[in-house]
Amino acid sequence: MHQAKLTLDPAFTIAPVRRRTFGTFVEHLGRCVYTGIYEPGHPAADEDGFRRDVLDLTRELGVSVVRYPGGNFVSGYRWEDGIGPVSQRPRRLDLAWHSTETNEVGVDEFVRWCRKAGVEPMMAVNLGTRGIAEALDLLEYCNHPSGTALSDLRVAGGSKEPHGIRMWCLGNELDGPWQTGHKTAHEYGRLAAETARAMRTIDPALELVACGSSGSGMPTFGAWEATVLEETYDVVDYISCHAYYQEHDGDLGSFLACSTDMEYFIRSVVATADSVGARLKSRKRIDVSFDEWNIWYQTRNRDAEPLTDWPVAPRLLEDQYHLADAVAFGGLLITLLRNSDRVTAACLAQLVNVIAPIMTEPGGRVWRQSTFHPFAQASRHASGDVLRVEPVTPSYETKAYGEVPVMDAVATHGEDGTTVFAVNRSADRPVSLEIDARALGGVRVVEATTLTDPDVYARNTADEPDRITPRANPDVEADPLRVLLPPVSWNVIRLA
Ligand code: AHR
Repeated sequence: MHQAKLTLDPAFTIAPVRRRTFGTFVEHLGRCVYTGIYEPGHPAADEDGFRRDVLDLTRELGVSVVRYPGGNFVSGYRWEDGIGPVSQRPRRLDLAWHSTETNEVGVDEFVRWCRKAGVEPMMAVNLGTRGIAEALDLLEYCNHPSGTALSDLRVAGGSKEPHGIRMWCLGNELDGPWQTGHKTAHEYGRLAAETARAMRTIDPALELVACGSSGSGMPTFGAWEATVLEETYDVVDYISCHAYYQEHDGDLGSFLACSTDMEYFIRSVVATADSVGARLKSRKRIDVSFDEWNIWYQTRNRDAEPLTDWPVAPRLLEDQYHLADAVAFGGLLITLLRNSDRVTAACLAQLVNVIAPIMTEPGGRVWRQSTFHPFAQASRHASGDVLRVEPVTPSYETKAYGEVPVMDAVATHGEDGTTVFAVNRSADRPVSLEIDARALGGVRVVEATTLTDPDVYARNTADEPDRITPRANPDVEADPLRVLLPPVSWNVIRLA
C-alpha cells in the first residue's frame, strides 16, 4: 500500500472556482448535433426537436458554457446558412469532416437549446475561409437588439431578444495544417487583432479568445503564442489551449499521468503571455481558455476507412471510454482546477456522441460514459475557492514524463463545505491518503465516493450503463482522517 498526505487550510487559496471551468463543446461533427442534441421524431424530442433525455443529462453533467459551432467545422462555415426557414436552408459540403451539413440547426436553434439547458453559449467565428466582415455580421445578428437589417432578421426569425453572447473565439486551431485557411502566426495574429478591434466597436465588453496552439507538441508551440499575442494583446482577453490524450502501446502508467503535459502546457502559455505583456509594458493579464480538452484515441480514427462520400451526421469519433480513461480525465480536471488563477474557462470536447461523456442511439437510448462522472462530480462539488493542498506522495517512473506522483489531488472550500478530488494512478496498489484538516476545525467526512473497477478497461454501454459509476467508499477512518483510494481510481471526499 502507498501512503500519501495532503493538508487543507482555507488560508492557502489559489483562486476562486471558475464556473466556466465546466464548459463543453457542441460542434457540427458526426452525431453531436444531429441525433445528439437534436432529433425531431425521437420519442424524447420536445417541440423544437431537442432530445429531452440529452438535455436532462447535460443539466446533470453540470455544464456551464458550451462552445459552438466548431472546431474544424467553423473554418468553412457560413453562419447565414443556418438562419431563416429551415426548409429553405442550403445543404453544404463540410470539408472538415467530409460530411453534408443540412443546416437544420443554426445559431438561433443553438441559443434556444442553451437556454433550455441552462448554459451560456460561447461562439466561434470563421477566420479560416472568412474574415472581419462576416464576424461583424454574425455579432450584429446575435447581439444587436433590433433596428438594423441583420438584427431585424433575427427578430423576424423568432428571436426577439438579442442572444447576448459574451464570449467569442477568434477562429479555431489556425496553427494546424489540417485547418481550412491554415495561417502563419503573423497572418493569424493580424487578422485576429483587426477582427477583435472591429468587434469591440460593436461591444467593448465582449470577452475575446485568440487561438493558441492545437497542442504542446505542435512545431510552432511557444513561438505561435508569442507572435499572436504581440499582435492581439490589447484587444483579446484569452489565449486558447487545446489538448487530447490517449493511451499509447499499452503504456498505462504514462497515460494516467497525462495531466503532466497539461500542467506544462498551461505554465508555458502563461509564461509566454506574461513575457509578451512585460515587453509591451502592459499591466493587463491574459488568461487561458482551455477550450478543447479530453481523451481522444486519434490513432484509432486514423486507421478508420477514409470517407468516400458525403454522409449526413455519420458516426465519427465515437470513442467508448473505460475506467482508465475516466481516471486520466480526472487528473486533467484536477489540473484545470489547480490552475484556476489563470485558466478561467475550459471546454470538454465534446458533449454528445463525439468523444463525449453522453452517448445516444438514434431513435433510442441515452447513457453516461465513464468520463461523465468525474466531470459531473467536480462541477457539482467544486465551490468557493481552490485550495493549495501540497500533496506528499510517492512517485513512479513513466516512459513519457519521467517521475510522476502516484496520487494527484486538489481541494475546494466554500460555504457548502470542503471537497477533495483525488486520483490514484497506481495500477496495483491502493493509496492510504491522510488528510490533515486541523485548520478547518472539527470537520468529518460526510461523503466519500470512488470510481473504480477491477478491470481498468471496463466501459459503460447502452445495455450496462452503470458498470462504471461512483460508489460509496467504505474505507474511511476518522482519527487521523484517512481514506483508502483503490488502484486506478477517481475519488471525491466531502468534509463538513
Ligand atoms: O474536437 C474535435 C476536433 O479537434 C475539433 O474540431 C478541432 O478543433 C480539434 O482538432
